[in-house]
This record gives sequence, C-alpha cells and structure tokens, in this order.
Amino acid sequence: MSNSSEKKRYFEAAPTDIDVDNFRKVLTSRRSVRKFTEKTIPADVLDACLDLALLAPNSSNLQPWTFYVVQDPTKKQQLVKACLGQLAAKTAAELIVCVARTDRIDDMAKRNLNEFPLPQLPQAVKQYYTFIPYNYKTGIFNSLGHVRKLAFGVARKFDKQLPVSAFNTSDAKLWATKTTALACENFVLALRAYGFDSCMMEGFDEPLVGKILGLNTAQYPIMVIAAGERAADGVFFPQYRFDRDLFIQKV
Ligand SMILES: Cc1cc2nc3c(=O)[nH]c(=O)nc-3n(C[C@H](O)[C@H](O)[C@H](O)COP(=O)(O)O)c2cc1C
Repeated sequence: MSNSSEKKRYFEAAPTDIDVDNFRKVLTSRRSVRKFTEKTIPADVLDACLDLALLAPNSSNLQPWTFYVVQDPTKKQQLVKACLGQLAAKTAAELIVCVARTDRIDDMAKRNLNEFPLPQLPQAVKQYYTFIPYNYKTGIFNSLGHVRKLAFGVARKFDKQLPVSAFNTSDAKLWATKTTALACENFVLALRAYGFDSCMMEGFDEPLVGKILGLNTAQYPIMVIAAGERAADGVFFPQYRFDRDLFIQKV
C-alpha cells in the first residue's frame, strides 16, 4: 500500500524481454583478436560502440575518461610503433587509446550539477557534488591527499566508516583506471555485438603514447584497443580459464 507521506521517487522499469542467450553469445564469442581483415568499421557502428562505452558505470558519475580514436595516418603509424609493432595494432581498422584522467574532476562535478536530468536538483545531489571532488583530488604536492589521510585516520578511531578515497596520485590514477576499464569492456562487447572484434593492449610504451597524443601528467593511457573484423586466423588459441573455485568464494 502506498503511503501518501512517502517521498515520490523517480521510477524506471527494468526491461524483462532481454535475450540472455544472445547476451551470452556476445560475451562468449569475444576473443582477443591479433589479426584483422582490411574491412573498415562503418563510422556509425564505431560511434554506436563508443556511445555504449560511455554508458559504463563510473565512480560518482564523474566520467574520468577520454577515448582517442586515432585516425590520422601519421599518428596511427606512430601508435603502431608505440604498441611495440604488435600484429593486432598493425592490422587493426581502428586504434583507440583509452585514457583515464584525474584532471577534470571539478569540471565533471560541476556538469553533474548543471546537467542533472530532473527539473529539480535534489539538495543531496547538490551537497554530494560540492564535496565529492575533494575525495579524489590530491592537490598541489599531494596537500589534499595528506590532509584527507590524517582526517580519515582520526575519524576511524571513532568507528566512522569511510569510502574509498585517493590519498596520493597513485590512488587517484587507480580510481580513474578502475572506471575507465569498465567503459573499455563495454566498448569491446558492443563491437562484438555489431560483428566486429578487438584486442585490448597494454603492451605499449606509455610515455610515447602520451607524447603522440600530447597528454598531460594527469591523463593516463590505460590501454590501446585494436578493433576491426576478425581475420580467419585472427584468434591464436582456444579460450581457457582456470578452475572457478580459484576465483569465486562464497563467504
Ligand atoms: C588490460 C589488458 C591488456 C592486454 N594486453 C595485451 C597486449 O598487449 N597484447 C595482446 O596480444 N593481448 C593483450 N591482452 C589480451 C589478453 O592476453 C587476453 O585477454 C587473455 O589472454 C585472455 O584471452 P581472451 O581475451 O581471448 O579471452 C590484454 C588484455 C587486457 C585485459
């Protein structure tokens, strides 16, 4: 029974007509492909896959990522070299550099306030985005990181539970990387759904990739994704995983 004093909440129904078999087929047919055909990926398909990548869950909706679709021939050639000349990079129709970044936290927090999708900005959201940047920003010479570490230490003495936070630039990089990797997975699965394939690569020279794209020190290329149509001999061996008991623990 509905209570008239209950707060009216936004409601979005979960679709129930999802084809699980097809979903499973997308997941199980995704392989790391090291050789692609010369077929190009239609621009609308690539854009659709990138848009699906951007729907990935991400920390506090701060969207700390940029995806560089490297299409300039000179840059692409340099990027193949930066990817250690890997066959996947050499034969890819598209090379996408996935960059995790910690330099737009304030901007993204402001956007959350300005572009909130309901007519009324809830007070809790306003407060959240006023304070949340301070949880991930590290400040000059890690000043904010140090202060937060101290404050968290004191608060824990009083049995206060606290969220994951960035106490230094490595923590901040990890924070942005975690979220960016989720978008990368969305992207490769979307490609698969459209009949294309990919190879995630971290076999690349990070400083060189940074130089090719002109990245700053708070923009971290976390992987380069090679994408295209799978060549007949593009998968080098069958997929295998170790015993699931090694990885799944019910506690
Ligand atoms: C973060 C990351 C980095 C990877 N780097 C490379 C790489 O540089 N070169 C490559 O050929 N494969 C790379 N791979 C692909 C893995 O080797 C591959 O996912 C793994 O062997 C399992 O095979 P599967 O993707 O076909 O299931 C990478 C995968 C991930 C997730």
